[in-house]
Amino acid sequence: MAQMESSQLDMARKIEKKGISEIPAESRPAYHLSSPVGWMNDPNGFSTYQNEYHLFFQYHPFSNIWGPMHWGHCKSRDFIRWKYLPLAIAPDENYDEGGCYSGSAIEVEGEHVLLYTGVTDRYLKDGTHDYCQVQCMAKGDGLNYSKYKGNPVITGDSLPKGGSTEDFRDPKIWKEGEYYYLVVGNRNMDGYGQILLYRSDNLEQWVFLAVLDQSRGEYGKMWECPDFFPLGNRQILMVSPQDMRAKGYEFHNGNNSIFIYGYYDKATYHFEREKVTSVDYGLDFYAPQTLQTADGRRIMIGWMQSWDAKLTNDFWNWSGMMTLPRELILRKGKIYQSPVRELECYRKNKIEYTQKRISERTVLNGIKGRIIDLQVDITEFDFHYFAIHFAYNEEYEMLLQYNHLRKCLTIDRTHSGLVRDVVCRRKMAAEPFISGTQKEVLSLRLLLDRYSVEVFLNEGEKVMSAVFHTPMEADGIVFDTDGTVCMNVVKYDLCV
Ligand code: FRU
Repeated sequence: MAQMESSQLDMARKIEKKGISEIPAESRPAYHLSSPVGWMNDPNGFSTYQNEYHLFFQYHPFSNIWGPMHWGHCKSRDFIRWKYLPLAIAPDENYDEGGCYSGSAIEVEGEHVLLYTGVTDRYLKDGTHDYCQVQCMAKGDGLNYSKYKGNPVITGDSLPKGGSTEDFRDPKIWKEGEYYYLVVGNRNMDGYGQILLYRSDNLEQWVFLAVLDQSRGEYGKMWECPDFFPLGNRQILMVSPQDMRAKGYEFHNGNNSIFIYGYYDKATYHFEREKVTSVDYGLDFYAPQTLQTADGRRIMIGWMQSWDAKLTNDFWNWSGMMTLPRELILRKGKIYQSPVRELECYRKNKIEYTQKRISERTVLNGIKGRIIDLQVDITEFDFHYFAIHFAYNEEYEMLLQYNHLRKCLTIDRTHSGLVRDVVCRRKMAAEPFISGTQKEVLSLRLLLDRYSVEVFLNEGEKVMSAVFHTPMEADGIVFDTDGTVCMNVVKYDLCV
């Protein structure tokens, strides 16, 4: 391993330390991980190391906009309280000086091994542009990491015919039996995304095994940030395609994240695609990654932001946050997502309304706040529209509206205080389900954390995530309908 002596790393760590100390805690989400200082995008290296959860992320500590990528770093024991650690790697070698792009991590014999994409991006004297992406390794002790001397460990030479050396990134590693495997995003000769599978027995030499799946144009162009894992009796290939076209309410224009459900034959490396759905139906979600906990749970975290609607934070010197980690389970052939159960330990001050009937704009005593866990279950449907206005005061509001005729749910941040014309509204199909008590219920769970909301429909059947920079004094919640709604409401403050 190369010695960890890097002036770029030292300098970035100094900037980071100073920056963090200048940002007030109240300017950040309370229980979502936010950038320590400067810009953050994709989650990277989401893994367990020495019984703690580690999360790295794409990071530019020098400004609130994307720049040469470093890997930021933090850890947690419960997915809720995160401790910032000094940033882990900087773009300081000839094979990664254009950026240390996304990747993953794994614990191997006491060491924490990172696999990431190194980018070369330079103009040569003759005017040509030297650009390529390769896969690299670094190893560390949970705090300091050194890059492998033999980097890169995978280059364009291994690519299947026509594979692009420019779009070849985001390795996700796992171990099975004697071998390490990784999936990585690539662009094929037709310009579409494909996911490549590699295998190694020593982490240093990798062999290309198969193309697991690819876009034929129906799911966008380049496929970024793959993950590949079993769930129930299916195998899931999760990818984030660029340049997709909207399709009904299922997919939107631009960057999406999708679950490709399928079956996997480990002997032949053949993945058979079954169906494709969105991972998140909100405004801000991209590049998710998973880990498996010691007790067998599959936990996913995503970047709560998107490239197409970057809500940069104009007030504080940090930009970007992650979703709450979510547990994935397969139920009735569908992936359900629920907030990690560890969150429940932080619930306080329960307020509950049972079988509450409303037929006009209504404020319920005690139901308000910006750091809350709010459950609203509708049990009678004598209406056309039902709305929850939150982060609300006379000037601002976020809107969640259910249309019972059209069976759809809309999230709308038009009046949340934006001063740029970014995408504000998104819809998804939503309808009541038959609950345990055999009654029709439409269930909405809203997790608010100062500047974001994650809406879980029907116990996690679908999720919508959105970010908004509404001033904190807008903390009201108003329910509204054009008919009569009967609902059960439970609210907790989240005290982290
Ligand atoms: C996805 C992505 C990755 C890349 C990284 C660069 O958001 O484009 O493919 O590794 O961001 O920051």
